[in-house]
Amino acid sequence: MDELLYRNFAKPFFFKMDPERAHHVVMDGMRQAARLPGGASLLRAMYGVKETDDMAQELWGLHFPNPIGLAAGLDKNAEAVEGFSSIGFGFMEVGTVTPLAQPGNELPRLFRLPPDRALINRMGFNNEGTQQMASRLSALHEHRIPVAVNIGKNKITPNDEAYKDYEKCISSLYPYADFFVVNVSSPNTPDLRKLQHGDDLSILLQAVKKQMNVEAERHGEAKAVLVKIAPDVTDEELEYMTAAIKDSGVDGIIATNTTISRDGLTHPNAKETGGLSGIPVRERSTEVIHKVYRQTGGKMPIIGVGGVFDSQDAYDKIRAGASLVEIYTALIYEGPGVNRAIISGLRELLRRDGYSHIREAVGADHN
Ligand SMILES: Cc1cc2nc3c(=O)[nH]c(=O)nc-3n(C[C@H](O)[C@H](O)[C@H](O)COP(=O)(O)O)c2cc1C
Repeated sequence: MDELLYRNFAKPFFFKMDPERAHHVVMDGMRQAARLPGGASLLRAMYGVKETDDMAQELWGLHFPNPIGLAAGLDKNAEAVEGFSSIGFGFMEVGTVTPLAQPGNELPRLFRLPPDRALINRMGFNNEGTQQMASRLSALHEHRIPVAVNIGKNKITPNDEAYKDYEKCISSLYPYADFFVVNVSSPNTPDLRKLQHGDDLSILLQAVKKQMNVEAERHGEAKAVLVKIAPDVTDEELEYMTAAIKDSGVDGIIATNTTISRDGLTHPNAKETGGLSGIPVRERSTEVIHKVYRQTGGKMPIIGVGGVFDSQDAYDKIRAGASLVEIYTALIYEGPGVNRAIISGLRELLRRDGYSHIREAVGADHN
């Protein structure tokens, strides 16, 4: 019913609007709805997902009520955590946040490709900075699901000083994040992706780990830090990256960010510069998850993201090695009912294959 409502009324309304304007309307709606008396309960009644033992997991000392999370980039400033926590997500990322507020790229910078079930964005880390995020997160009343803070560097910061930006993000936000995600994979900040390669990655991750340890000591609590990687890497590069990530002692990998590939697209917006998300990145991101899982011997938890639209897509990533899965583009195309649909479908797929808990399916394709 909710899906029909979205498909027949809300989606046609939003899809007539400029994509970024629609984004702001949705964010306002999510923020306001959760603040109205009874608003969060109403959202939960409409879109929430009941926690069940078979879908819940403990990772990095945190409790994940279900494996489907909101990917980074939608709630860049942590404005609607309560709203997103109420529509069935098992966890969410906020950000990417940078130490200083910055406007991002010129508009237009977000494009729909409906026949390809995809988006192209070149937002460029538009965000209000760590200070504003700290005040938003510290004011949260409820804390229902793990909230990760995804961190990046300001556009004006040169790459050889990038580590300082990541350190600043960690030190300003440590008390408010359940875990951190180091984003070195967005295609829209010039040269950011270079930080994924060679010595740059090891140097950065060393600095990040050091800062995490300092803050753990200061606050008396250790927290996890993950690295988010791009899909546009050769096998050789991926092997190097995975080895460097493993050696650095970080706690997990998020695979993947958007792609700069334009293979197989039909919509004229394919000519736009930026990162492509949605169905066209689905297979490649699952392939990267598979390779990372193999290279880490399944010992480092992976969050899979890229083109997950339904339960089969999520299941493919879990079987390839993802312990958790995130979505972004599917939420735009399918609406907020998508979490419920994915989770109930996942349960059926688990049962069909004789698993009684989601963890038994993680990496099953490697057996
Ligand atoms: C408009 C838009 C903005 C995004 N911003 C960020 C971001 O700030 N940081 C980040 O790590 N990923 C960002 N992403 C990437 C998503 O988190 C995700 O990795 C990617 O879209 C693939 O997942 P999907 O196919 O489910 O959308 C963004 C994606 C979109 C569509």
